[in-house]
Amino acid sequence: MATADDGRRKVAYVPKALFVVPPSPSSGGRGAAVGAPPPRPLAPVAIQVAASPADAPVVTPRDGGAPWAAAKLVVNAADGTEHELRAHMALTHYLINALGAAAARTLDAAASPVWRLLAPHLDGLFTINNTTPSTLLGEGNLMHQTLTGTTAAHTAYVAAVLHGTALHSLFPRAEMAARGVLHAAALPDYPYRDDGLAIWDALHAYVAAVLAPHYPTDAAVAADTEVAAWAAEISAPDGGRHDYLAYAPACPLSIWGVVPAPGDGGTAPPPATAAAAAAAAAAADKDGGTNANGTRGRGAAAAAAAAALLPWLPPPPVASAQAELMAILASVRVTRLGRLPWTPRRGGWHGTAEGAAAAAALAARLDALDAAIAAREAGREWPYEYLRPSRVPRSINI
Ligand SMILES: [Fe+2]
Repeated sequence: MATADDGRRKVAYVPKALFVVPPSPSSGGRGAAVGAPPPRPLAPVAIQVAASPADAPVVTPRDGGAPWAAAKLVVNAADGTEHELRAHMALTHYLINALGAAAARTLDAAASPVWRLLAPHLDGLFTINNTTPSTLLGEGNLMHQTLTGTTAAHTAYVAAVLHGTALHSLFPRAEMAARGVLHAAALPDYPYRDDGLAIWDALHAYVAAVLAPHYPTDAAVAADTEVAAWAAEISAPDGGRHDYLAYAPACPLSIWGVVPAPGDGGTAPPPATAAAAAAAAAAADKDGGTNANGTRGRGAAAAAAAAALLPWLPPPPVASAQAELMAILASVRVTRLGRLPWTPRRGGWHGTAEGAAAAAALAARLDALDAAIAAREAGREWPYEYLRPSRVPRSINI
């Protein structure tokens, strides 16, 4: 049984949430023409706090303020735990650690164009990944305090995700298609998709331009023994243990998406499903007004509803620790996507005229995207600016 530092039992709910995409006057998402009515956001309509209806009834907005707010709290707490362990630790810190460590052992840092592409994204990664197991992630430390479950359970879950997720399934279009949220017709208001794909496409063009002089054909890729060794180590049982080779046994180039991934770039909008919408909403409903936002200033009834929520909230020391942790981590931003490290190397970071031109084009494209997002979000009550390129770090270092 998982217990908190003060001996109290930690509780892990397994909620299910149903979201709908309301009929919208605009189907163009946030990329619609200026002046068009904004698309209506994804809306939660029903929550089952436990996995089985026998263990928990389905709660809807009709059940009133406190039950509905408590149910949304449960969903947001579960989403936070899942995000921290799966998306953040497994598929960000440790996935890239495996790719980067294999690259460091197999690619020539002075001569490999692939290493020149990868290295800026590894700044600080190995340092933070070697530091956190004995600090942030240690037994009884901040991660243990602020998440449900035990440290051993966290580790087991992160390992299961890391080794059970196919690398190509994480390519943005494949990942979004699998969740049914790739197309605006299914989910108009999804800036994570719109901004994320814009960044992905800019990076794709940059990588292709840098590599084109070095690898004009697939045969040229196949002839690069360093790249082959890198790919093999990523998949090796005693290496990264990622199964990407099962996807592309003949062409390592596909690892950076030059070869389309399955489901990448499909043309027919997939049907929107409740499960897909629920998955998308995990990111979209961060500000769903679950407690203070939904009750502030509504009088005695609101105050009573807020008091009824207290048992569902974490103890003040835990809430404080979580706020402190997030504030510290989010305040560290020492690199910026699209800005390469300074180098005295002739020809710039990539050592070629094509590389220098590609890097300049990427920086300009990201700057334009940053300005476009800022203009799009100006005046919105809850602006989505998390993927403005000026706010995206170049490497995983915190
Ligand atoms: Fe992190």
